[in-house]
Amino acid sequence: MATDLVLEKDVKKIPQHIAIIMDGNGRWAQAQGKGRVAGHKAGVDSVRAVVRGARKAEVKALTLFAFSSENWQRPEKEVSMLMDLFMFVLTKEVKRLHKNNIRFQVIGDLSRFSDKLQKSIIKSEQLTVNNTGLVLSVAANYGGRWDITNAAKQLASQVRNNEMTLDDITEESLHQHTCLAQLPSLDLLIRTGGDCRISNFLLWQAAYAELYFTDVLWPDFNEDEFTQAIDVFDQRERRFGKTGAQVLNK
Ligand code: IPE
Ligand code: IPE
Ligand code: MG
Repeated sequence: MATDLVLEKDVKKIPQHIAIIMDGNGRWAQAQGKGRVAGHKAGVDSVRAVVRGARKAEVKALTLFAFSSENWQRPEKEVSMLMDLFMFVLTKEVKRLHKNNIRFQVIGDLSRFSDKLQKSIIKSEQLTVNNTGLVLSVAANYGGRWDITNAAKQLASQVRNNEMTLDDITEESLHQHTCLAQLPSLDLLIRTGGDCRISNFLLWQAAYAELYFTDVLWPDFNEDEFTQAIDVFDQRERRFGKTGAQVLNK
């Protein structure tokens, strides 16, 4: 029993599912006297770095916030450059993801994207659908409130069609209709860029995630920073409503 305890303490806890709010691209670029888009472009390298880090650490799922449902309010030029960048990265990187056995998917309301971009997303998802390694989800035109509303709508339609009753609406059945329901629950939510808020990201999924905020701007975030976040997660005591003593005596 005593040895079990020691062993458990020695093993580093690795979050099974990590999500990242990749923030600070614009400020990074401005600090260098460049346009905001240069920051978004530089941020692609950080995406590569965290994907590499996640594979090395054997994380099961990595979910990245690339474009929020609120980001349409940005200047038109920035939005269209972001769409072009998304398209470019998709076509350029997906083969490499596939080679690395990564399953790629996009979450969010895709209907607002151009036909070309939607097709490219579907093609990328289909290419990697049978891969068994890391699940990489990119949130684009995603909003946590949209996600929950969408799940509620689907349940309401099933009740209306007599496919289920009102009593079948439970936390579990609603959960099944939210994005990422098939993945391990979210363990760690990282936000770069210094702001301490969720910005309508995974509201439902983050209920018991550990939150990690860093001042590092997204283009400066690298594999070491990612490992540091995992180390901090390892030090956290997750109690899920229980007392500290209950958790320790488990
Ligand atoms: C995050 O960086 C990327 C997107 C929201 C697309 P920002 O563009 O928000 O950068 P800051 O926060 O203005 O520095
Ligand atoms: C959140 O960042 C969205 C993404 C990182 C894609 P924002 O920069 O849009 O968030 P706010 O507006 O500062 O809350
Ligand atoms: Mg921002």
